[in-house]
Formats: sequence, C-alpha cells, structure tokens
Amino acid sequence: MGISGVSKAKIVRGDCGYVLEDVPHFSDYIRDLPNYPNPLQDNPAYSVVKQYFVDLDDTVAQKVIAHKNGPRGLHFRRAGPRQKVYFESDDVHACIVTCGGLCPGLNTVIREIVCGLYHMYGVKKVLGIEGGYKGFYSRNTVLLNPKVVNDIHKRGGTILGTSRGGHDTTKIVDSIQDRGINQVYIIGGDGTQKGAAVIFEEIKRRGLKVAVAGIPKTIDNDIPVTDRSFGFDTAVEEAQRAINAAHVEAESVENGIGVVKLMGRYSGFIAMHATLASRDVDCCLIPESPFYLEGAGGLFEFIEKRLKENGHMVIVIAEGAGQDLFSESIHSVDKDASGNRLLQDVGLWLSQKIKEHFAKKNKMDITLKYIDPTYMIRAVPSNASDNVYCTLLAQSAVHGAMAGYTGFTVGLVNGRHSYIPFYRITEKQNKVVITDRMWARLLSSTNQPSFLSPKDIIEDKKEGSSPALVDDHDTVDGYLVNKEINY
Ligand code: F6P
Repeated sequence: MGISGVSKAKIVRGDCGYVLEDVPHFSDYIRDLPNYPNPLQDNPAYSVVKQYFVDLDDTVAQKVIAHKNGPRGLHFRRAGPRQKVYFESDDVHACIVTCGGLCPGLNTVIREIVCGLYHMYGVKKVLGIEGGYKGFYSRNTVLLNPKVVNDIHKRGGTILGTSRGGHDTTKIVDSIQDRGINQVYIIGGDGTQKGAAVIFEEIKRRGLKVAVAGIPKTIDNDIPVTDRSFGFDTAVEEAQRAINAAHVEAESVENGIGVVKLMGRYSGFIAMHATLASRDVDCCLIPESPFYLEGAGGLFEFIEKRLKENGHMVIVIAEGAGQDLFSESIHSVDKDASGNRLLQDVGLWLSQKIKEHFAKKNKMDITLKYIDPTYMIRAVPSNASDNVYCTLLAQSAVHGAMAGYTGFTVGLVNGRHSYIPFYRITEKQNKVVITDRMWARLLSSTNQPSFLSPKDIIEDKKEGSSPALVDDHDTVDGYLVNKEINY
C-alpha cells in the first residue's frame, strides 16, 4: 500500500524488456487463504477440452506488431479458469450493478454472469443492485438466477436500471460488508471503473475477501487497451438504418442533403465505423478532426462540389464534433452527473448553417433532412457478435473472481481475453488518431477534405506519438509502471 492509500502497480519484469502489468490478488493482502480445486474440472462442458485451465504464466501482449530488436513490451494476465479457486461455491455471495448510460449488451452481460456463476461454479446466491451505484445504499436488491435472466438478452437497456454519479465509497462498501457480499461485478464506463477502483481500495484497506471485477462499457468505444467495447458493433449496425434513411431521402430529391448525428462525445469511433460500413456517406465529421464551414477547403465548398457531381449527399456528424465552432456565449457550463460537459446540438446547428448558406442569393436550392438517431442506436438489444463478446467478458470476469483476482477489469487485447488493472483503462480515453491509417482509409473512402493544414498534422502527430503515457507516471520503454496510482 502506498503512502496515499492506493495500491502500487503490480509489475513483473522478464528478460528482453518483458513487462507484465498484473492485477491484484487476495493473496497480496490476506495471508494463508485456503484454495480449492476448481469445480469446473467435473463440468462436462470442460471435460472435453484438452487443456481447460489457463496456465498461470500465460500473458497477453499489448502490442503484436514487433520489430527485430524491439523490446518484448507490455503484457496482461490472460483471462480464463484457473486450476485453483479461492471460494467454495456455497460461500459465494455475488452482486451485479450497472452504471452510466445505456449500451447494447448490458442484459447479456448480466445474464452470463448469473449463468456462469450458476452453471460453471454452482454458485446460487447472486443479487442485482438496482439503479446504479446509489442502489447499494438506497434501494432494495433483486435475486438473480438463470430463470429470472433467461430471456433478458433479447431486451435493450438493463433490467437492473442505471444512473450516473451516486458514488459514495464508504456507504457502498458498508452495504457490501453488511450484506455479506464477496464478489462484486461492476458494469460501466470509465467513471464507473474509476469508482470500482476506489471501492477495491477501500475493501482492501478493510482487509475483506471481496473480489471486485469490472466489465467496461461504453458505446463510444473509447476505452484504452481493449480491442473494442461491447455494444459498439451493434451501435454501428443500428446507425446504418439512419444513414440509409438519410441516403434514400437525399437521393430522392434534387440537391438533397441528409445529415445524421451519431453519438461520440469525445471520440468519433461510431461515426467513423458507421461511415466506413455504409459507403453512402460523403462526409464524416468527428471531434478529433476540426473542420470549418466557409472559404476555400471548407465544408460549404465541398458540399457544393459534391451536389454538382452527384446531385445529393450524406453527412455524418458525431455529437462532439465542431463544438469549437459555437460562439462562447452559447457554450454550456453545465455538466451531467458523470462530470461530462453538456454539449450543444451540433447536428441541428450544422443543418441550420447549411440551409442558411444555400439560401443566400444565387446559391443552389437544396432540400435538407436531419436525422438524429442518438438514443436509438444504444437502446437496442445487442447483435449476435456483441452477444458472443458479452458472454466471454462475463465468463472471464467470473473465472477471475473465483480464482481470487480482484481490482481488475476484463477486456479483449489483440483477440485474447485479459485481466487489466483498473488504472490502465481509466487513465485516458481512446481517440481516433487522425494521422493514423484508419482515418486515412475513411478519407479515401468518402473522398472528403481533411480540413487540416500542415501545421495541424504536425500537432496531431505529436499528440498521437505516445498515446499510452500520462505525465506524472514513470515509464519503462514507453510503458506506465510502478508509481502510486491515483484514481
Ligand atoms: O458516454 C457514452 C454516451 O453514449 C455519449 O456518447 C453520449 O453523449 C452520452 O453517453 C449520452 O448519455 P446520457 O444522455 O444518458 O447522459
């Protein structure tokens, strides 16, 4: 335990620059804990698998692109069932909570945690905490079992309800302790995972044998380290319906313009992927890529050109794009309960500006339709691929908690399920790097202007060059290591 009361990163170094950024385990702070053979060894589902327990030494590389003389780099502990568990099935009393905004797949994760505990480990006591973090101390709990959760993956939202904020560490840990809960599964975004880290620290400070497992959630897909967040695939798919509608409307009239606003407060992953998937989009605007309206190289000039060429066009704009274009006076200082600044409706604003521009003397007659499917893309049930992903995330979390790991979050890293320390996924948010190949692919697919000057490109390259680093941390070969972690 560090002087500030938060744990040190658990770093294991190997030869040739190998670094394992490990997750905490009960044995780090509770001595002489008994362990037991994993009941999965008698489970028919696992008896057919040749090597069904994960080797204790298995780790997953964060970077798979390597150079001949480069270091081995950073690794995370591989997720999966262990030979030994630190709970007897009858002693487990688990709870699940969902926090923050909705995301497709929440119910699937809940279902699979419940079913994983029941069917794989014979755990019968699972509680649902209602209404997010504050539900720990202000609401009743619900009993969850495979029957209760059987069909819930077919519904959008979360059967437990959710909320932003409401995090009172002392009250939450008191409630965990009073109820005799010893496994806590926390599904939520970066703010929620920061909260989970603090809950873990308090539990550890009290010396409790309570596993805290996070399942990161954000529809914006901006969680670092992991390949993608659950629900993202569904959101991109659902966005196609809105883009399609915009395209049909635009194509059916002379000089038709369809504008679609998609989610993405700080990052434009949904807009970028929805655009790449669709091929009907002529211009994609995201928070990471500044743009301007008037003059040479500006958006209006491009719209005029595209309308002359094709007679119609579709613009996709992420909700966080172009916020710098609003005059200071209409910038809101208000924040939501998660501390996010409330944004102006850039889709409406842009639609209005385009209309005003083309209404000027001697300009073209245009017909513009604005579609705002914002909440529709996240309120749906998860699609097939997200359902599979949610299942594996949930099972990984259950295996980790049963094996005595705690203070960890689960995620896919280069296609392998891994246990990642909380601070790794909360220290920053991923952004679309506009000097990377993916954005270049989009630009060449839409053939839109980049709106960038050479100076912007140099600046962005500087920012994108060390994305994993946080100023006040030590680094080894560019990786964050071995300092007090303040959540
Ligand atoms: O954080 C994810 C997100 O989907 C953002 O893209 C969006 O701005 C926000 O949630 C909106 O959620 P709510 O309106 O529920 O606060």
